[in-house]
Amino acid sequence: MGGFFLCLEGIDGAGKTTQVRRLARRLGALSLDVVTVREPGGTGLGEAIRKIVQDPAKAIDARAEACLYAAARAELVAQVIRPALKAQKIVVADRFSASTLAYQGAGRGLPEELLAQLNALVTQGINPDLTVVIDLPVEEALARVSREDRMERLDEAFFVRVRRCYLRLAKEGGSRFAVVDGTGTPEEVEKEIFQVVLEALERCTK
Ligand SMILES: Nc1ncnc2c1ncn2[C@@H]1O[C@H](COP(=O)(O)OP(=O)(O)OP(=O)(O)O)[C@@H](O)[C@H]1O
Ligand SMILES: [Mg+2]
Repeated sequence: MGGFFLCLEGIDGAGKTTQVRRLARRLGALSLDVVTVREPGGTGLGEAIRKIVQDPAKAIDARAEACLYAAARAELVAQVIRPALKAQKIVVADRFSASTLAYQGAGRGLPEELLAQLNALVTQGINPDLTVVIDLPVEEALARVSREDRMERLDEAFFVRVRRCYLRLAKEGGSRFAVVDGTGTPEEVEKEIFQVVLEALERCTK
């Protein structure tokens, strides 16, 4: 389809949002045309869904939650990501399909195969060229974030499962995945992410 699709993943507090901004700045400095998106969000429906799933007062069934995130992703792909890639832009996403497998699959215990099919449906087969997993111990990540929203009040064991799933997906994903150490300073993590992104960009232009 053209363009280049990058995604940052990791448990809550890993530094995704911080690093999406920094990566976009770095790529922009190379005069590349960059579009950043976040999940859930980026469209009218997506932002409405974001409010629902992040409301601490709401207890949502795991299957319903999976469908809400999937609906937000379907809109984001159709309205923003697909057109941007078609226009040869670089898309940098704050979470994408791997989040569903890690959170609703490993975290909440839904069957990964069904979630993978749901992902295939809503992404129209558009997968990141590179997913960067920002990895760090659960305790360290959770210590960084305020525990106000619903997700972050889940127990530590939940995030241990999520983290383990990300690492397995990275192992299985070959060159479409990279794991970077998220324990360093924001500057250090930024440098490491930029390095793996440049390598992936070079691979694709060869
Ligand atoms: N390398 C780092 N070292 C220390 N603190 C960091 C680092 N990166 C980000 N932070 C801080 O940790 C907090 C969480 O970072 P950020 O919001 O980027 O994580 P996130 O992965 O997007 O989290 P969430 O999944 O909750 O959206 C923020 O307050 C941020 O300033
Ligand atoms: Mg974030």
